[in-house]
This record gives sequence, structure tokens and C-alpha cells, in this order.
Amino acid sequence: MRRSSDLQPEIADDSAWWRDAVFYQVYVRSFADANGDGVGDLDGIRSRLGYLELLGVDALWLTPFFSSPMADHGYDVADPRDVDPLFGDLAAFDRLIAEAHAHNLRVTIDLVPNHTSDRHAWFQAALRAGPGSVERDRYIFRDGGGYDGSVPPNNWPSQFGGSAWTRVPDGQWYLHLFAPEQPDLNWDNPEVAADLARTLRFWLDRGVDGFRIDVAHGMAKPYGLPNLDPRAELGSGVMHDNSLDPRFDNDGVHEVHRMIRKVIDEYPGRMAVGEIWVKDDERFARYVRPDELHLGFNFRLVEAPFDADGVRVAIEHSLGAVRGMDTPPTWTLSNHDVTRHVTRYGGGGLGAQRARSMTLVELALPGVVYLYNGEELGLPDVELPEWALQDPIWLRSGHTQRGRDGCRVPLPWEGDTPPFGFSEAVTTWLPQPNEWAGLTVESQLEDPRSMLSFYRHALELRKSHGAFNGDELEWYGAPAGCFAFRRKGGGLICALNTSGGPVPLPPGEVLLASGPMAGNQLPPDTAVWLV
Ligand code: GLC
Repeated sequence: MRRSSDLQPEIADDSAWWRDAVFYQVYVRSFADANGDGVGDLDGIRSRLGYLELLGVDALWLTPFFSSPMADHGYDVADPRDVDPLFGDLAAFDRLIAEAHAHNLRVTIDLVPNHTSDRHAWFQAALRAGPGSVERDRYIFRDGGGYDGSVPPNNWPSQFGGSAWTRVPDGQWYLHLFAPEQPDLNWDNPEVAADLARTLRFWLDRGVDGFRIDVAHGMAKPYGLPNLDPRAELGSGVMHDNSLDPRFDNDGVHEVHRMIRKVIDEYPGRMAVGEIWVKDDERFARYVRPDELHLGFNFRLVEAPFDADGVRVAIEHSLGAVRGMDTPPTWTLSNHDVTRHVTRYGGGGLGAQRARSMTLVELALPGVVYLYNGEELGLPDVELPEWALQDPIWLRSGHTQRGRDGCRVPLPWEGDTPPFGFSEAVTTWLPQPNEWAGLTVESQLEDPRSMLSFYRHALELRKSHGAFNGDELEWYGAPAGCFAFRRKGGGLICALNTSGGPVPLPPGEVLLASGPMAGNQLPPDTAVWLV
């Protein structure tokens, strides 16, 4: 079997490298465009590796760049073992991996096992083959209810709005938990697992360091596809209690993760993280058992308001969920599916100030951090004009939910006007606001007060300072609206003030503060690291 070493150098294998890594999520469409079509691509990422090294991250997570009609911007995969021409080709991928490794950056990629594109050869064959065929058995086709079969097989909603079922011309219905262009695979069919194993090996052989598993709590569906309890609290992508919702977190999913783990274990030093929108800590923990995923995304910090008590509860749940599991917690403030945290925390100067403080909290915690491209520049969500909106959520909600485009606007690199060095094209796939002139990488790089300089400084300290050692935290007593914790091993103290006024600092010497300090007082909307 061809191994990555035949293709390009691998970086040293310190097997569990991910346990305290800082990952940087590259939303490929929006990071950097090398071929001038207004959409980011693999060569674009390669051209910016020096920046990522300077920033001080350890690994990249690339969102899907596989062959796709782009109904959900690549999360509808038509061929999981090829690169879409929009993003490059396999040779561009090999170049990217080799150069990233030369820059000491690991590369992990998205994997979408819950569904395919409706343009995938399997789904096209299923449409042609008709009811009862082996081709249809790779997906979830059912007859409808009512005297003429015109009632969907059950009441499941799609995560993007509307029913999760679409009817085909011969009268059957197929299941899609997301857009109709994303038919769900039938994980009871052994061909489906065999194909995923093939995909895993394909990319592992090309040298990837790991995977991010999309909708890792999906895949398995319950026997008989029972109706969803109407009391289930639903929302697009929102973490909810799955006990009333049979669409996700079914026990059969763990078999899939065991299969994935077995394949990855053939390749030392590689890992997988799952996107797990599961609220219950005990059920969450099942995904990171020793023979399943190496890491699980939990979205507690994303869901917490800017409030010390709420953030502390989020931290305690995140730590509690993996306690005793031999897997580190993971921390995320933003990704390509949620409103950027500068905006969530109030936007403008206040949002940015609070975002800085939460960055210090996140980077003070033990475990793994996932940064989302552009957060290091302090990018807010963009209020896009309606004509620009592209997310399937916008269409499927009957234009009532704007969807996720606001957090996916291409990054500003340099210059005073759009496209700010992102592309040579005049028009980018989503328009950038003129105000981003003040947020470009170029304008921030040399400014010691910029968000970018702040991230670089914080990441450097996190990597090099002994105060960040140890997995356990202890909490200090703190005034209302504030908290302080201490890393038990290294002794780092992190204090956050979300109250309306200044509070006395805990004892210690300031290592880094998220904003100007007021003597020995910690101002509101500010966090500090002390040793
Ligand atoms: C995940 C992705 C999201 C995508 C969905 C369907 O939640 O993060 O962007 O739309 O899965 O694949």
C-alpha cells in the first residue's frame, strides 16, 4: 500500500500531538483565492502557510474541498476521493500537505459520512434503479403514507427547514436530514461502511494527519424511523435534548466510530474529532471511548452567553463530560455554522473587547482549542444584503432565516478596498464590507494593540510557558459576575470580569491582559492571566 512517505515528508510522529493542540479551521471557500475566481482554494491556503506559522497554530482543519455541486458549499459530496475543480486538484492537495508539513503544521480534513450529494453516482443509480433495488438500499427510501402515498413516511424536519423527506417521480420518498441535495446514507448497508473505510485510507495514504467527522452523532437511524416527539426543542444545528428526537445520537452510531477508529489506528499519529451536538454529558462521553473518536467537539462555549456564571457552567460541563475518559476537552468559540463571537457578544468595540477576554479564557483551559479563520482578526458577522445570501437555510426557511453566510465572508488580507488581497477577482463569492479595511492582516500585523498581535502573543505564551501545565482546574471564590480559576499543575490563574464594574485582581503577576488594566483592578469585560 502506498504510504504518505512515498509522496512527501511527514512531520515527526509524537503520537498524541493533538492532546493540547491549537487547530485553525480554514473555511476553504473564504480563506485565500489563488486562481482569481473569487472563491478560496487549496493553492490559496498554501500561499498563506507562512501566516499560519507566524500566528502560532499547530494544525489545520480544512472544510470539504471534494467534488461537489455545492448545494451546501461542499457538505454535499459527489465524490469523496477527489478534489473539486473549484478548489484545485489532487496534485494541489499533495503540494499543500507537503508544504504545510514543512511549516510544521498538521493537516486534518472534513469527512461527511452521514449523507452524500444527490449527484453522487450511488444516488443517481438509486433513482434509476427503482423501489426495492440494491441501489436504493444504500440510502433511506420509503413509501409514503395516505391512500396515494403522498404523506411523508414520518414527521421528521430537515435541519435546514421543511420536511426531511423528498418524493421522487416513482412515488417513493428519500430521507435527508439536511438539504434535499444531501440524501442520508443507509448505515445498515455494509457497502456504506466499506466505502468510508476506503475514503479514510485514500486520504491517510496521501498524508493527512486526521479528520473532522461531520454530523458525528448522525449516521445511525432508529429501527422503524419513529416519529419525533413534537415537544422536542429544535433549531438548526442547536444542541438540544436528543431523548425526544430520534434523528440523532442513536446507539448504532458507535459502531461507525469503532470502524473509523480501527482504520485510523493502522496509521500511527493520526486522529479524528467528531462534530457532536449532544447535550447530555454522559451520552457525549460515549463518543470518545478508547475505541472511538480521539476528540469530540462540544459546543458549550459557543452556546454560553457572555456571563461569568454561564461560562463557568459551560467549562464545568465540558471538563466533566470527558473526565476519566483519557481524552482532553476541546474548546471552540466560533465556526462556520454559528454567529461569530464578536457579534454574539454585542458587536462593535464592546463585542471585540469581550471576544478578547473570552480568547484568554479559552486559551487558559487545558486541552484542545479550535480557532475559526478570521477570529484572530476580530472579524464580526456581516449583515449581507439579501441578494447575496447563498446558504440553503435562507431558501428552505422561506426567507425567514438568513442562515450562516454572515460568518463565512472571505478574509481581508491587505489593501484598502475589497477584495482586500483575498482574490484577484473583483467580485468574491460573498461580498466583503468596506469597513474591513481596518481589520486586514496587513493593518494588524505590526500593530501591538491589534487583535492579531494579541492572538499571537497569547498563543506563544500558551505554547512556551510552564504555567499552562496540568489537566485539572481549581476555582477561586470571586465577586458576582466574575470568576477565577487556576491550572493546578502549572499554576496559571485566569480571571474574567463580566460584571458592570471593576473588581480587585487575584494575587499574582500579570502575564497578559485582554485590555487595559486599572491598577490592581480588573475592569469590566476584561480577562487576565496571572502567574
Ligand atoms: C455540519 C456542518 C454544516 C453542514 C452540515 C451538513 O453541521 O458543519 O456546515 O451544513 O453538517 O453537512
